[in-house]
Amino acid sequence: MQKKFTVNPWEVTGEVDYGKLIKEFGVQPLSKELIEKIEKKAGGTHLYLRRGLFFSHRDFDVIMDEYEKGKEFVLYTGRGPSGRTHLGHLIPWIFTAYLQKAFGCKLYFQMTDDEKFLMRDVGLEEAVGYSYDNALDVIAAGMEPGKTVIFSDVEYIKTIYRIALDVAKRVTFSTAKAVFGFTNSSNIGIIFFPAVQASPAFMAQMLEKRNVNCLIPCAIDQDPYWRIARDVAPALGMPKPAGIYSKFLPGLQGVGGKMSASKEDTAIYTTDSAPVARKKVMAAFTGGRATVAEQKEKGGNPEVCVVHQWLYYMFEENDEKLRNSFDDCKAGRILCGECKKYLADKVCRFLEEHQKKRENAKKEIDRFMVKD
Ligand code: TYM
Repeated sequence: MQKKFTVNPWEVTGEVDYGKLIKEFGVQPLSKELIEKIEKKAGGTHLYLRRGLFFSHRDFDVIMDEYEKGKEFVLYTGRGPSGRTHLGHLIPWIFTAYLQKAFGCKLYFQMTDDEKFLMRDVGLEEAVGYSYDNALDVIAAGMEPGKTVIFSDVEYIKTIYRIALDVAKRVTFSTAKAVFGFTNSSNIGIIFFPAVQASPAFMAQMLEKRNVNCLIPCAIDQDPYWRIARDVAPALGMPKPAGIYSKFLPGLQGVGGKMSASKEDTAIYTTDSAPVARKKVMAAFTGGRATVAEQKEKGGNPEVCVVHQWLYYMFEENDEKLRNSFDDCKAGRILCGECKKYLADKVCRFLEEHQKKRENAKKEIDRFMVKD
């Protein structure tokens, strides 16, 4: 029997079958040749590419072909600031910073405080406040000052609105319903909102009159927005935005879906203290057996273990160490407590580094944020 899963901008549940998602969404798998093109330009690989965390794309091959013929591209990504940033959010941002460095691109970063106000139980000023708070994490992820603009929709709407109107005029309600599943009970703000999220994909061309392409690095849940943006692009005389997509870092309880800010105990936030983060990791779902004796006899199941997935995708660069811990788990030579402690140490070191950069970002934020 096929397991059910859902992936859309507002919900990711169930055990996601990424192969199936590639077909359902009509995106392409990220090929070895494309990965090599990025690595060559970057002068080195990235763990997220090497381990297949970034796994699919739309027209990234076109962007690369045109880039090789001299057409530059800009980057665009974003955040819906409904609360604190967690480690899952950092994945597209760390990868975006890597691309920005490799290709020297300008980056547009959108904070959709309007979207979160419309869709979540969060006040408007609270959401705008989170735009500024979360921007510290964006900067800490390594974005370049002078080449990055970060904006809150609420505070930059005069600039965005002209583009959004151009987009909105060309999207029917019927298309928006089909793409986002809107119903009669959807509020009318969110029905217009997809035009707002599509707009930054055209900012470089419309505001700065630059003849460039646009590449959007994000997790695959945001793809529906780019279908709208790509549909209207020809009518606007704009190139279709391309996307490069990651899988989801699972929550610590590992029952499918993605790490989600609304499930406090299953997410590690960038501002968690070391003891808080350690406690959460030590309570993670693993592939362990009911008793130590059973584990030693039959071995564990690293395939379903969240700790193993976190090490694989984000925290263990060393292939040999990873393979050994996988084999040791299967053979019953290692217990879950040891793996959890190993991961907790890595997570705490990561947080310590990130929090230093985040603190530094407070002095830098004015070089990044724009409003009108
Ligand atoms: P939001 O705030 O839900 O997520 C921010 C970014 O993080 C990605 N993401 C994850 N990636 C890996 N593992 C996870 N567990 C995980 N959870 C979230 C999301 O795909 C996203 O890239 N509407 C958007 C904000 C937005 C945006 C954009 C995002 C506006 N313009 C352009 C990407 C690109 C939102 O609410 O994202």
